[in-house]
Amino acid sequence: MKSIRDLKLIGRRILLRADFNVPMDDQRCITDDIRIRMVLPTLQHCLKENGKLIICSHMGRPKGQCVEEFSLAPVARHLETLLGVVVKLAPDCVGEGVEAMVSKMADGDVLLLENLRFHKEETENDVTFSKQLANLADVYINDAFAVSHRAHASVAGGAAFFTEKGAGFLLETEIDFFNKAMRDPVRPLVALVGGAKVSSKLGALSNMLDTVDRMIIGGAMANTFLKSIGVDVGNSKVEDDLLDTAKEFIENADAKGVKLYLPVDFVAAESFKADAVTKHVTFRDIPSGWMALDIGPASTILFGEALQDAKTIIWNGPMGAFEMDAFARGTMALCHSVASSHALSIVGGGDSNAAVKKAGEEKNISYMSTGGGAFLTLMEGKTLPGCEALAQ
Ligand code: 3PG
Repeated sequence: MKSIRDLKLIGRRILLRADFNVPMDDQRCITDDIRIRMVLPTLQHCLKENGKLIICSHMGRPKGQCVEEFSLAPVARHLETLLGVVVKLAPDCVGEGVEAMVSKMADGDVLLLENLRFHKEETENDVTFSKQLANLADVYINDAFAVSHRAHASVAGGAAFFTEKGAGFLLETEIDFFNKAMRDPVRPLVALVGGAKVSSKLGALSNMLDTVDRMIIGGAMANTFLKSIGVDVGNSKVEDDLLDTAKEFIENADAKGVKLYLPVDFVAAESFKADAVTKHVTFRDIPSGWMALDIGPASTILFGEALQDAKTIIWNGPMGAFEMDAFARGTMALCHSVASSHALSIVGGGDSNAAVKKAGEEKNISYMSTGGGAFLTLMEGKTLPGCEALAQ
């Protein structure tokens, strides 16, 4: 896979795939622009090289419909402020109108194409649509790590029509950090995995058993593991169809010499509500009808100790329902443990990133990935279609 550094950009039309799928409030104001700011070095490089910059992105899941709510207009305005140059927004991402706008571009101009997913052909990786996109430019750059696990036209299909293509600085950085953590880690390597469902993380958990030295499992997914070994988890969320798989996983970890950590105590509640009555209980004492919604203080200490001498930490998924203050303490404590460790720490996924922010520890994490699904795909040991397309 070539790097943006290897590409000749002067005076050329550059199609740059970014992931500007950013959260917005009811007034359509961007509430977190990190995904935009992380692409700025690539954009600035293209402008310094005097290229004609044609940026494309998706926003949300409009399912092939042109929906105002998913327009990239707020992104164009924000980008203009961040870049300090005029950013024109095209009314579409393909078609004669867009081609006419591109043909009028001067070196150093910036054009943002409208949401790619207003065309269903984008997610279908349609060849004609891919070609239409590719026809707009001479050079293709993928700097959209967060969507590179999708074999979509602007990520995969379109790249095939370019002979000159490469990764932007963000995509490169994401892959470099991930490789440092998982391919060539300084040990001990500790994985911290949480979140609601075992089913969504099973591939990642299994793959990581071959690489990590220790694995800490928290969040609602820990309930399934605990129940699989006979713990009564009350009314806690459990994936009953995965009990055998979870038990097998625990046995595999043991056989592979991976030290597995599960919660030993919880903050339990009568109901899944911010103001529910709560109780601190050991894993043996979850009252019938109650549910575990956060790890307890003993688990926090246990997990913190497992992280203390780590040289590499990879983290995906919170330890509890941290969006409610009553169940945030465990996740917050682990944010501080990861942040204060001397390890190379890599955090991926929307919830874990939000937790780190809530704890005010962003600056103390070595790298916060911009990817959710893409990060998980790498954790599963798979390659990203977006990277494969650049390598061909
Ligand atoms: C994300 O937010 O994870 C990426 O932008 C990908 O979005 P998607 O899950 O809708 O493909």
